[in-house]
Amino acid sequence: MSEVHTIDHPLIQHKLTHLRKKETGTKEFRELTDEIAALMGYEITRDLDLQSIEIETPITKTESNVIAGKKMVVVPILRAGLGMVDGIVSLAPAAKVGHIGLYRDPDTLEPVEYYCKMPPELGSREVIVVDPMLATGGTAEAGLQFVKDKGAQNIKFVCLVAAPEGVERLQEAHPDVDIYTAAVDEKLNDHAYIVPGLGDAGDRLFGTK
Ligand code: URA
Repeated sequence: MSEVHTIDHPLIQHKLTHLRKKETGTKEFRELTDEIAALMGYEITRDLDLQSIEIETPITKTESNVIAGKKMVVVPILRAGLGMVDGIVSLAPAAKVGHIGLYRDPDTLEPVEYYCKMPPELGSREVIVVDPMLATGGTAEAGLQFVKDKGAQNIKFVCLVAAPEGVERLQEAHPDVDIYTAAVDEKLNDHAYIVPGLGDAGDRLFGTK
């Protein structure tokens, strides 16, 4: 069974509260999403492998650590996932970015794929799939299956707010993928929105509502 990491750092919780508020406008919503993603990135990358290399300081030669292996890949699920990319990439500027385009069919609420572009050699990379809202889990489940089908083996899923229903579905479908979230909320409503949640993350990020 995968683990659920609720990242309860005070700075993240403070920013999440402002993100949730209905009066928070597009500019601030975007900035907060970016900042929370960067703060979460610090925790998400905590277990990256290190390797020792030889360097020379102004004083002497020494061994010192750098990140080992191939660079990370951040994979936003379009479109709301885009809001989390820059924050994470600010910590790992050499990270590659793949994209998955999935939308929820309004009738079935099931995900439909419309775009995908991944960097090569996914199998040897740390793949971070990002989507701010883990609601029913349908989109995340499909997104994770998608990167697995492209060869990804070492995957984390990162969101800002999760519903218990989505967490359960994702853990069942992908027991090898740990979930990182800033909050696990109460429930889903009849329209598959997270309660209390923050509304439609994509619309609030892009000002489309
Ligand atoms: N997607 C969102 O943007 N918000 C929700 O509450 C659920 C799914």
